[in-house]
Amino acid sequence: MSETKTYPPLEKIPTHVAIIMDGNGRWARARGLPRLAGHRAGTENLRRIITASVEFGIKYLTIYAFSTENWGRPQEEVSGLMMILEDVIDRELGELHKEGVQLRHIGRLEQLRPDLRQKVLDAIELTRNNQRLVLCVAFNYGGRDEIVCAIRDMIEDGIQPEQVTAELVSQYLFTHGVPDPDLIIRTSGEMRISNFLIWQSAYAEWYVTPTLWPDFGKDELYKALVDYSQRERRFGLVTPSPCAPGDRADAG
Ligand code: IPE
Ligand code: IPE
Ligand code: MG
Repeated sequence: MSETKTYPPLEKIPTHVAIIMDGNGRWARARGLPRLAGHRAGTENLRRIITASVEFGIKYLTIYAFSTENWGRPQEEVSGLMMILEDVIDRELGELHKEGVQLRHIGRLEQLRPDLRQKVLDAIELTRNNQRLVLCVAFNYGGRDEIVCAIRDMIEDGIQPEQVTAELVSQYLFTHGVPDPDLIIRTSGEMRISNFLIWQSAYAEWYVTPTLWPDFGKDELYKALVDYSQRERRFGLVTPSPCAPGDRADAG
């Protein structure tokens, strides 16, 4: 794919794109490689997608990298995924920082090895003032776990029942301060949420592609954005359409 390829401007760009980066294992299996080789290829692809997101004007990119359920995978795969997280920070942090990427983490860090946890915290601290793209890394993230944490924190803070509103709940989630995702992409064809952003996705648009994550390049991202730009989001309302004679704007 030529680097100089131009992409026609889009009518509307989602502010926040979230990606369930799925299919690394199948990508590796199709090549007779171990699953970890698929995860490594997936990580390399991530670099491309971050750069493309900046270029397309996306402001928030959330990536699902490790779920609370993924701990149940074979020990070797779990420790391999931890190692990959560490390598990515070591290798990519400087460049991401230069590109103006602000790193955030959603999920629970306390279950990670202390040195790895510290590495993540240092990366967040280093990039905290960057404004070009907010990259939220969902690592040891589960939507249910996030809601459980929020409820616990609200109780601990002495929040009274009548104070509980949707806005307040949002403020207690790991994603506080981040707008809800406009577009959620899932690669590898699975049509399920897998415990990802279950609160925040209430009105997200979904885009599922059979392409496996390591193969989901810039062209594929652009295709998803084109698809999104043609969607009509209604948020439970009715479409403001050209009125038929006798129609009233407030009717129906
Ligand atoms: C997604 O790829 C990455 C993680 C869940 C960590 P998978 O490892 O789930 O790949 P498949 O679904 O087995 O192909
Ligand atoms: C979702 O993928 C989690 C990540 C991409 C990190 P999974 O592969 O774990 O989801 P299921 O098991 O197919 O639902
Ligand atoms: Mg999977």
